[in-house]
Amino acid sequence: MPTPAARDLNQCTLPMDVLTNPSAADTFPINGTDHLEFYVGNAKQSAMYYMAALGFDMVAYCGPETKVYDRVSYVLQQNKVRIVLTASLQPNTEIAKHVALHGDGVKVLALWVDDAETAYRTAIERGAESAFEPKTIRDEHGEVTLASIKTYGDTIHTFVQRNKYNGAFMPGYEARSNPYPSKSVGLQYVDHCVGNVELGAMNKWVKFYQDVMGFKLLITFDDKDISTEYTALMSKVVSNGNGYIKFPINEPAKGKKRSQIDEYLDFYHGPGVQHIAVATNDIIATVGQMRDNGVDFLYVPETYYDDVPERVGEIEENLEDIKRLNILVDRDEDGYLLQIFTKPIQDRPTVFFEIIQRNGAKSFGKGNFKALFEAIEREQELRGTL
Ligand code: FE2
Repeated sequence: MPTPAARDLNQCTLPMDVLTNPSAADTFPINGTDHLEFYVGNAKQSAMYYMAALGFDMVAYCGPETKVYDRVSYVLQQNKVRIVLTASLQPNTEIAKHVALHGDGVKVLALWVDDAETAYRTAIERGAESAFEPKTIRDEHGEVTLASIKTYGDTIHTFVQRNKYNGAFMPGYEARSNPYPSKSVGLQYVDHCVGNVELGAMNKWVKFYQDVMGFKLLITFDDKDISTEYTALMSKVVSNGNGYIKFPINEPAKGKKRSQIDEYLDFYHGPGVQHIAVATNDIIATVGQMRDNGVDFLYVPETYYDDVPERVGEIEENLEDIKRLNILVDRDEDGYLLQIFTKPIQDRPTVFFEIIQRNGAKSFGKGNFKALFEAIEREQELRGTL
């Protein structure tokens, strides 16, 4: 079987007009990712990990001290990446049930819009299911309008309109500065967020993003693109007009053994967010710092680097640094990219982070899929889930 690296990149459908022509038919404009909200078992301790290991600053908080009695939320930020960590203070809340079923995981992929009410109404008219109706919340710093629709599994997209707000996060939260010293690792913005869905459901969700949001299908990977000797998966990437929102959707494919998507679906008990890719301008510095901070990354064997110069050509970074930090490299027709994947960031083998540096490349590292999936298989083997 040819390795993905040996395949012609042009085999995948890449309608480049979507990336170069922002007039793609968005049904409403999206400025970017507003925040990602995780429901977790212990928000206080998770916040410590995000600060100490991932270099985030704490910016806001809500809980009993701010007259919220059923939950606590810590808001963490690093450049344009904003993460909200929420835990329940009661046993029977929606948050507690979410954590009991899924473990720690992403509940909200929040999208920053100029008009949340119109975004919501348009989405509903086009077939989206409501998570909650538009509401405007206010405090002394102004007002924020929120509305929300459902996507795969228990995940939701909340539209956030914050043009009349200048507080720390949103009404209901108080500003909070770092209680622990943290040092930025250089994470800049959310590059893409990947969802895992059940076998046969990928096309349904691609159609949802096309019909409801007006997203374009950017790339299709079939099970021949994404397979190893043992496991396979399929993936389609949808994007909004300005390219700031990119959602790859994965589904498992038949292989000799159980794929990482099957493992995810078993442990998460249904579809959900698989990984969040965060961009950096200096992956050598970012990953070096994260490793020093104790972050665990997937491991590729040294032989991975044997054909890198031939496959990728000239790159600005020192190959020895890349090798030392175990970073992956790939090239497409627009440039190259450097990427690396953390191991799962919670007890269950579900959500993880990708760190990505794009030097022109607009794709997703297809040349690394095989090495990456073999690395995941080694982890699955240890867990007895392959
Ligand atoms: Fe990714």
